[in-house]
Parts: sequence; C-alpha cells; structure tokens
Amino acid sequence: MLRDLSKLATEIVRHTAVTRRHLTPELSLRLVTPACPLWTAQEHELPFQDPFWAFYWPGGQAAARYILDNGKVVENRRVIDIGCGCGAGSIAAAKMKAKRVLANDIDPYALAASKINADLNKVNFEISMENFIGKKLEEFDTILIGDMFYDEEFANYLFEWLLTLAKNDKTVLIGDPGRHGLTEKRLQHITRLATYKMPDDSCSENHGFTETSLWRMNTE
Ligand SMILES: C[S@@+](CC[C@H](N)C(=O)[O-])C[C@H]1O[C@@H](n2cnc3c(N)ncnc32)[C@H](O)[C@@H]1O
Repeated sequence: MLRDLSKLATEIVRHTAVTRRHLTPELSLRLVTPACPLWTAQEHELPFQDPFWAFYWPGGQAAARYILDNGKVVENRRVIDIGCGCGAGSIAAAKMKAKRVLANDIDPYALAASKINADLNKVNFEISMENFIGKKLEEFDTILIGDMFYDEEFANYLFEWLLTLAKNDKTVLIGDPGRHGLTEKRLQHITRLATYKMPDDSCSENHGFTETSLWRMNTE
C-alpha cells in the first residue's frame, strides 16, 4: 500500500498548501486553503472525489484541540482514529504520547494525507484502510471520532456501534459542532467536555459553524 500512497501523496502536495490557520495552530497541516486553485473549483473540475481529507472539519478540530490540552486522555493508551481525514486527531494523540495510534479511513487519499501531515509534525503512526465500523476493536481502548455525524443513515449505525464500545469500557471521544446526526435522544448518551470557538477562517469554510465541541460517550 505504501508505494501506491506515494503516488497519491504527489497529487496531494500539488493541490494543497501547508496551513496553521485552525484551532490547533501548533500543528502544520496540508489542506486545500483559499490560496489553492481548488478552493474555488467547480465539482466537475476536482481531481479528487469527495476530498474530505483536504479540509479540517470542526469536529476533528475539537478532538485534536482537546487531546493537545488534555494529554492524559490518550497518554499510554491504544488509540484508533476512525475517519481520520487529514490525520490531525492521530497526530495530536501521537504527540501526547499514546502507546499506539492507528489512523483509519476508507479513502486512501486520507491515509496518504495523514502520513504527509504526520511527517510535517514529526510524528509517526500506523494507518489502515479497513472498515472497522461494527467491529469489537479489541486491540484499542480509545476511539476518536471527528465529525462523522453528517449523514443520518450512517449516524444511526455509527452511534449504535459506539454505544456498544463504550459499554465495553472503551473511551469514545467525539468531536462534533452539533450536526443533525447528534439528535436530542443521542445527546443523552454523551457528555460535553469542552466547547471551542472556531477561528474565523474555519467558520467561513464550514458553513457558519462558529463553535465546536468535544464529547465523551457515557459508559451506561
Ligand atoms: C467529515 S470527514 C472528517 C475527517 C476528520 N475526522 C476531521 O474531522 O477533519 C469524515 C471522514 O470519514 C471517512 N469515512 C467515512 N466512512 C468511513 C468508514 N466506514 N470507516 C472509516 N472512515 C470513514 C471519510 O472518508 C472522511 O475522511
């Protein structure tokens, strides 16, 4: 897989720029920014399909910010970052001395972007393209979820799985700006640990979300 990823990495580097204009400015991330031609490209002009990894979503920003400010939550823990996108959550966990970090995404571009961003921030972690949703995750004790409640059908499935993991004593951390997938009913199962004001640049990218939060799933 690594040889294939290096081809994708070349494309990613061509179309992105390094930025610190987000909620975790201590991390340099290669993203599509207003300085990149792709910023204003029409959908049919995009060289990538659904390049979620090219943006740092508000939920991912909350997750990484919380980890960098509260390192104990990952220190010596085995962390899996499901839907890692640009890899910022994994980078934060690696920086804060997690025992093991696995960045996971079903999009190979996300894994290539995560590796590029790991190098930029001088950390290392494993990557996997396996679809872990529904699995027991026996090798991990901490699950990171950054902004994955954007689709109702997926949210149903994802939330039920996370509830089961939490009941099995896994620590489930969810970064989310309050998307519709976090319904009133679901909010009863999670506890908000922190709320952050989004930087102005990130607000304009994110359709007006001005705040983002980090939630922990309750264990019962
Ligand atoms: C909205 S993006 C969030 C990315 C990153 N966590 C952040 O907050 O910046 C959602 C990511 O989930 C990934 N994804 C979707 N379904 C997935 C699955 N079943 N397993 C792993 N990743 C998945 C997508 O490819 C995408 O990169």
